Amino acid sequence: MELKGKTILITGGTAGIGLEAAKQFLANGATVIITGRNQEKLNAAKRMYPALTAIKSDVTNKEDAWSLFNQIRELGGIDILYNNAGVVSPSLNLGLENDKHLEGAMYEMNVNYLGVIQLNNLFMEMLKSRKEGAIINTTSILSLVPSVIEPTYSASKVALHFYIESLRKHLQFLKSNVKVFELLPPVVATEMTANRDNKKMSPENLVKALISGLKKDKYIIRVGDSKLLYFINRLSPKIAFGLVNQNRPKI
Ligand SMILES: NC(=O)c1ccc[n+]([C@@H]2O[C@H](COP(=O)([O-])OP(=O)(O)OC[C@H]3O[C@@H](n4cnc5c(N)ncnc54)[C@H](OP(=O)(O)O)[C@@H]3O)[C@@H](O)[C@H]2O)c1
Repeated sequence: MELKGKTILITGGTAGIGLEAAKQFLANGATVIITGRNQEKLNAAKRMYPALTAIKSDVTNKEDAWSLFNQIRELGGIDILYNNAGVVSPSLNLGLENDKHLEGAMYEMNVNYLGVIQLNNLFMEMLKSRKEGAIINTTSILSLVPSVIEPTYSASKVALHFYIESLRKHLQFLKSNVKVFELLPPVVATEMTANRDNKKMSPENLVKALISGLKKDKYIIRVGDSKLLYFINRLSPKIAFGLVNQNRPKI
């Protein structure tokens, strides 16, 4: 799909992959709107890239979502909704039975899964009315194989993966022109992974691969180790599981 001249909303565009995407989409001739929960981070992003429109909005909050939708309608609407905002709750040493784990799981599902559905539903008619509308959703290498110390993060991303597959087929069945993309990043060097010592891809290279995939209408964009792991997992789920969990604590 063409990016030049398009208007893109990036949720969680104040840091990490989202901020890098804002930069590269602007460089590709798009108009970019970003969101986040923290006003200072939004102001900092706007100072960095003055062409951005920055709107405070939490993807889990229904009133915020409606307010965002109304503000964007006033601004002339969007062609692309990029669901990037995502969280991982702190590792819990497999405390699967404790309340903290349940709290973390609800938080992850609210941001990573239910927040996406909320925005997709709100913006769907707007996207359908565009000549070339699209939704970009961010899952993860962990939607292929779970991490034993991030069980509910992995589950939130695999739930999103199945939802995306269904949404894409549903829209194709309705002969809608809305394209549904899925981005599967490997481990990327951002705040989210600051305490990890894995091999990490730079946000810059990840977003370059995303943009290249979008331009080729490649609906499932597996990048770096995600691509490799996808094939290994098809041949041997056991080896793939071992690779993802090789630096993890023993159960
Ligand atoms: N980094 C990785 O290795 C990796 C790998 C695979 C997939 N991913 C996925 O890629 C996406 C981006 O990750 P990242 O590493 O760039 O994360 P990050 O550096 O932690 O940035 C997250 C962004 O999301 C915003 N955010 C968090 N919760 C939000 C909410 N409830 N509503 C609105 N905005 C919210 C944050 O801003 P505020 O705090 O101001 O709200 C920030 O702008 C996520 O979906 C993540 O799951 C990341």
